[in-house]
Amino acid sequence: MQTDTFEINRISDKPVIEFKGVSKTYATGTHAIEDVNIRINRGEFVFVVGSSGAGKSTFMKLIMREEKANTGTVMVNGFNLTKMTRNQIPMLRRTMGIVFQDFRLIPTMNVFDNVAFAMRVVGASDKEIRLKVPKALSKVGLGDKAHSMPMQLSGGEQQRVGLARALVNSPDLIIADEPTGNVDPNMSYDIVSLLTEINKRGTTILMVTHDHNLVRDFQHRVIMLDSGRIVADNAAGGAE
Ligand SMILES: Nc1ncnc2c1ncn2[C@@H]1O[C@H](COP(=O)(O)OP(=O)(O)O)[C@@H](O)[C@H]1O
Ligand SMILES: [Mg+2]
Repeated sequence: MQTDTFEINRISDKPVIEFKGVSKTYATGTHAIEDVNIRINRGEFVFVVGSSGAGKSTFMKLIMREEKANTGTVMVNGFNLTKMTRNQIPMLRRTMGIVFQDFRLIPTMNVFDNVAFAMRVVGASDKEIRLKVPKALSKVGLGDKAHSMPMQLSGGEQQRVGLARALVNSPDLIIADEPTGNVDPNMSYDIVSLLTEINKRGTTILMVTHDHNLVRDFQHRVIMLDSGRIVADNAAGGAE
């Protein structure tokens, strides 16, 4: 089997995510993240909780390199995000699937094409697309909705399209900032059940949520942020 150096980096035993002394202050002077140290290992499922303004979205944006830390080191999937240049960001994003609270489906494309789009942007062939999109759709229970338009679907169904799009390129890591924020409670359980199944097959999952019921019912690691600091982590010291 052939492996290049890039693959070797990715499959090493290093944590998937590592923050060392990370702070993020916005131009406005708001200290959104303050001196955060954390390791998230391959195969973990982590809920990120905390009140509004606690820094959860900023934490996620630092991982996607949508924002850059002012101090400290952020490592994700073997990449040093603090040293990364703008034109290297697409390479990082290819190793992760991102699920958005507001779905972000393209309204003029049907379900199949919305998922296929994520493959086209990374240069997949039509043959691969024809093979993998139906598989991703059936994984999320939407095998029969390939030709539907986003507006014909419920919120929960639209988010499952978002999930199929996030997993179609077989990412190492899925990150989701309040993915159940716009879907009803039953559908929220479906979404987290699906994420839990995906996690069982080895994908690391990081999910922000406000929903205490989900956190209670799905027994995963929980990191709590408050005023930009990690104030609780039920795997602290035991995450090695
Ligand atoms: N782009 C931005 N510019 C300035 N301040 C921001 C920006 N984004 C977030 N903030 C501020 O940073 C703090 C943390 O925000 P955020 O990370 O969105 O928290 P959460 O997702 O937990 O609600 C808040 O005080 C928020 O107002
Ligand atoms: Mg937020």
